[in-house]
Amino acid sequence: MGSACAKAILFGEHAVVYGEPGIAIPVPQLTVTATFSEQDYMKSFRSLHINSPEVGLDTDIYDLKSTHPIRHLIELLQIELGISELPHKTLTIRSSIPLESGLGSGAATSIAIIRAFSGEYDHPLSVDRVSALAYEIEKIYHGTPSGIDNQVIAHGIPIFFRKGSPVEPLNLTQSLPLIIANSGIKSPTREVVGDIRDHFDQHEQVIHEIGSLSLAARDALLRWDMEQVATLMNENQRLLRLLTASNERLNDLIDIALKAGAPAAKLTGAGRGGNLIALYRNELERMHIQKALSEAGAQVYL
Ligand code: MEV
Repeated sequence: MGSACAKAILFGEHAVVYGEPGIAIPVPQLTVTATFSEQDYMKSFRSLHINSPEVGLDTDIYDLKSTHPIRHLIELLQIELGISELPHKTLTIRSSIPLESGLGSGAATSIAIIRAFSGEYDHPLSVDRVSALAYEIEKIYHGTPSGIDNQVIAHGIPIFFRKGSPVEPLNLTQSLPLIIANSGIKSPTREVVGDIRDHFDQHEQVIHEIGSLSLAARDALLRWDMEQVATLMNENQRLLRLLTASNERLNDLIDIALKAGAPAAKLTGAGRGGNLIALYRNELERMHIQKALSEAGAQVYL
């Protein structure tokens, strides 16, 4: 079996696509697993069978289009691991990560599958190799991905990320007091990133300012200066609104979190739907924010 967890971007979404720095953390409470099992001999599958209830797949690998991300990944793995013929087994993929919602479900699915193959064929792969293989599939999901999703999920630790530079682990002293809440609106990253790219000229300055926030946030996080982290998060959300990455539903939910006492709240991931993150200072505050967001119809994860 292979597994991988979700991720949340704390700072720098979109800006990372253009080489600005960003900060991301793994979210171990939401996971994907990929498990090999023997096929039921009564059913005659031609080859590897894929069963993935969350995305509605119950199919032989060769019945998927050659451009399908899962088929493409498995063909890449055949080359990487020297597998001439795929096993007559079933690969079951289960996920608790909401799809198209900014929490890295695509990269996590790829990495769970890579780890399952690596285990099944007893062929260890380095973290960098796992990340690089997942990045190939991110290009199908996202068009022009920065690579932050595959990097944070492959490493499984908080990271300071800049496209083209080695990943910098962020050694945080405590786990972040964060609520993640789903707006309920699905938002494919490819479309939002593509649209913002089309208006890059208008956004260049804002993108650069977001990069500066990530630099300041790295220092604040390492000092565990959560007041400063909160200020920077709110500023990041203001800039994301200028980028048109937010939308009315996210703005409303963010206001609700702030009114319920959160010192900061912002969207996470590509935006225009998907999830938001909100900081809290103590358990009472967490309960108030969580209640207010739930009453507004958001699904609260943590
Ligand atoms: C997606 O999780 C984050 C974006 O910055 C896109 C990317 O980095 O590839 C919106």
